[in-house]
Amino acid sequence: MTAPLISADRICVRFGGAEVLHDVSLAVRPAEIVTILGPNGSGKSTLIRALLGMVPLAHGAVARAPGLRLGYVPQKLAVDRTMPMTVRRFLSLPVRVSDAAAAEVLARVGVEGVANRQMAALSGGQFQRVLLARALLSSPQLLILDEPTQGLDQPGEAAFYQLIETVRQDTGAAVLMVSHDLHVVMAASDRVICLNGHVCCEGTPRVVSNAPEYRALFGLGTKGALALYQHDHDHDHHNGHDHDHGHDHAHFHPHRHEHTHAG
Ligand SMILES: Nc1ncnc2c1ncn2[C@@H]1O[C@H](COP(=O)(O)OP(=O)(O)O)[C@@H](O)[C@H]1O
Ligand SMILES: [Mg+2]
Repeated sequence: MTAPLISADRICVRFGGAEVLHDVSLAVRPAEIVTILGPNGSGKSTLIRALLGMVPLAHGAVARAPGLRLGYVPQKLAVDRTMPMTVRRFLSLPVRVSDAAAAEVLARVGVEGVANRQMAALSGGQFQRVLLARALLSSPQLLILDEPTQGLDQPGEAAFYQLIETVRQDTGAAVLMVSHDLHVVMAASDRVICLNGHVCCEGTPRVVSNAPEYRALFGLGTKGALALYQHDHDHDHHNGHDHDHGHDHAHFHPHRHEHTHAG
C-alpha cells in the first residue's frame, strides 16, 4: 500500500479534564476521498486540528509526508464574511496570486466571473466554492475541508461533492472532509470514518452504513440513506457476511438518545 500523506497513530486530545479524542488512528493515502462523520461535538474539528498540529496531543503521534502540500478550509473562517472584500482580494490572502491564476482557479471550481464581486454578495454555494478555490491555489496533495457544505441545500451539497470528485480526478489530490450529513457525503467518499470521541466504525460507505455502531450513532434519521445502500448491497453480496444481524451492542445504546446530527 502507498505511504500515507498524513496519519494519526492512537492520538488522544484533552481540553481541561475532558478527553475529546481517545485513541484515534487514521491514515489518508494519495487520491483517496475520506470523510469523517459524527454528531456535533464528537471531536471532528479537533481531529482535523490535531492532524494539522494546531492542538496539543495528550498521547499518540501525527505524521505527515515530508514536504506535504496542504490546502485547508476550516469550519469557521477567520475572515468575517460581511467584511468588505472582493473575491480577488480574498484569494490573495495571505499569498498574492496573479489575475490569471485567480481566474483559472475560479473557473476550475465553477464560479468564473466572480473575481470582482464582494465576498458578502456571494450565495452560499459560491462562497464555499471560493473557499475551495483559495485552498487549491497551493496545488495541494491533500485537501482538508471541515464541513465544506454547511449552509447549502441538498442540491447545492450534491453539486459541491461532485466538484470535489472532479478536483480529485483533475489534480490527483487526496481529500479529507468532515461532515455531519449523510447520504451525499457517503456517496462521494471512498472511505468513511465514524467518529464519536473515538473511531466507532470505518470502511466503505456501504460497510459503514450497515454497521450497528453507525446506526446507533445516527439512528432512524438515516433510513433513506440506508435504503439506498442496502439496495445496492442486496444485489452485490449474497454471503450474508456484512449483514446487520440486529445485534446492537449494549454499550452503544446510550448514544441512541443523543441523536445530535444537526442539518
Ligand atoms: N479549544 C477548545 N477548548 C476547549 N474545548 C474544546 C476546544 N475545542 C473543542 N472543544 C470541545 O471539544 C468537543 C469537540 O468539539 P469539536 O471538535 O469542535 O466537535 P465537532 O467538530 O465534531 O462538532 C466539544 O465538546 C467542544 O466543546
Ligand atoms: Mg466541527
